[in-house]
Amino acid sequence: MAEQVKKPIKITETILRDAHQSLIATRMTTEQMLPIVEKLDKVGYHSLECWGGATFDASLRFLKEDPWERLRKIKDKAKNTKLQMLFRGQNILGYSQYADDVVEYFVQKSIANGIDIIRIFDCLNDIRNLQTAVTAANKEKGHAQVALSYTLGEAYTLDYWKDMAKKIEDMGANSLCIKDMAGLLLPYTATELVQALKETVNIPIQLHTHYTSGVASMTYLKAVEAGVDVIDTAMSPFALGTSQPATEVMVETFKGTPYDTGFDQNLLAEIADYFRPVRDEALDSGLLNPKNLGVNIKTLLYQVPGGMLSNLTSQLKDLHAEDKYYEVLEEVPRVRKDLGECPLVTPSSQIVGTQAVMNVINGERYKMVPQQTKDVLSGKYGATVKPFNAEVQKKCIGDAEIITCRPADKIEPQLEKLKKECAQWTQQEEDVLSYALFPQVATDFFKYREAQQTKVDATVADTKNGAYPV
Ligand code: CO
Repeated sequence: MAEQVKKPIKITETILRDAHQSLIATRMTTEQMLPIVEKLDKVGYHSLECWGGATFDASLRFLKEDPWERLRKIKDKAKNTKLQMLFRGQNILGYSQYADDVVEYFVQKSIANGIDIIRIFDCLNDIRNLQTAVTAANKEKGHAQVALSYTLGEAYTLDYWKDMAKKIEDMGANSLCIKDMAGLLLPYTATELVQALKETVNIPIQLHTHYTSGVASMTYLKAVEAGVDVIDTAMSPFALGTSQPATEVMVETFKGTPYDTGFDQNLLAEIADYFRPVRDEALDSGLLNPKNLGVNIKTLLYQVPGGMLSNLTSQLKDLHAEDKYYEVLEEVPRVRKDLGECPLVTPSSQIVGTQAVMNVINGERYKMVPQQTKDVLSGKYGATVKPFNAEVQKKCIGDAEIITCRPADKIEPQLEKLKKECAQWTQQEEDVLSYALFPQVATDFFKYREAQQTKVDATVADTKNGAYPV
């Protein structure tokens, strides 16, 4: 092999976000994260992914933690490494479309609290839904990375991805990500896709995939050879299965090649030692299901992301209809086709999944139609790559108005109204944003926070009086 120019592959570590989201339902706590952040900060990662929709939601809902506080604490210990978050375009970290003023304020506050890189995607790949967030990140001097929500289907040709990438570069993105949430990107397809995108844009290209279907580390190998700049990996205790390829393995794979990361395996081993008991504990408690650690080839057959598979399982369990699992899996691609062959990523994955369950359970397709399905079919989430099934559209929304403009153009500013609604609970400016995304969950959290503070105040008063706190 002729002497090659060195081009160290850069790595985004996902253990503080996607890895635990994919394997343990996003239940890693701030307390479990903080003791290891300084070591993670020494590795030399391109970035540490630590924030996103599910981490935000689970912090407030299940862990009773303030996600903003977590971000500030991580930032405090990660002095050298960029922090990265995942952002659902006009859906922010939530499940519906928000007004531009809320999107802008969220971006501003994310960056002010410590985020450096914002990975922005849209669940329909409608690039009109990305512009506000990109412009806001540019304005706040953050790094705006825009993701292609990767999926398969006859509409998704190389030309389609090239065209989208070009538009993304033109809209002011600092880098591009191929976001393969289901692990559908095969190694040799990755070669073609990365080469095609490299010929199309000048901004760096990052690849994000999941191990679900078992091909991910091979896909990374081919993508790196084809010129991809950054890959997403997870420290081994929370790697593989529905998570990402293991950091240590990818580092070792590229050792001594032009792509050598130069990372210290001993340091990585110390970090893995820290996380192994966290994983063991999750295995013992049942939080980590060993089923999620194997290869799930169904993801290739049904093109359903790992997270969606587990959602479907729990929905069917709640309905005592677990025997309908395969029927539902077969219904998913049909619903997806009716809904314009959209990618399956939050929130479109939940919408398609829930509709598929209803279609099967009710024994008649689109007999029961949740509001969110109606919203997709009336254009309230944006445009899909293929037209909707006209018959299904008619059955679900009748002659209701269909939006063809950018959906947020129809939404009046929301921020001032939201501020008033939650004024009695707010203790920091960011609280209104938690409330905007999850009104009920955030209010419950605010109440819990106040109760805790009252408790602490009482304890402090007791201690000052010389009494021992119980
Ligand atoms: Co992911």
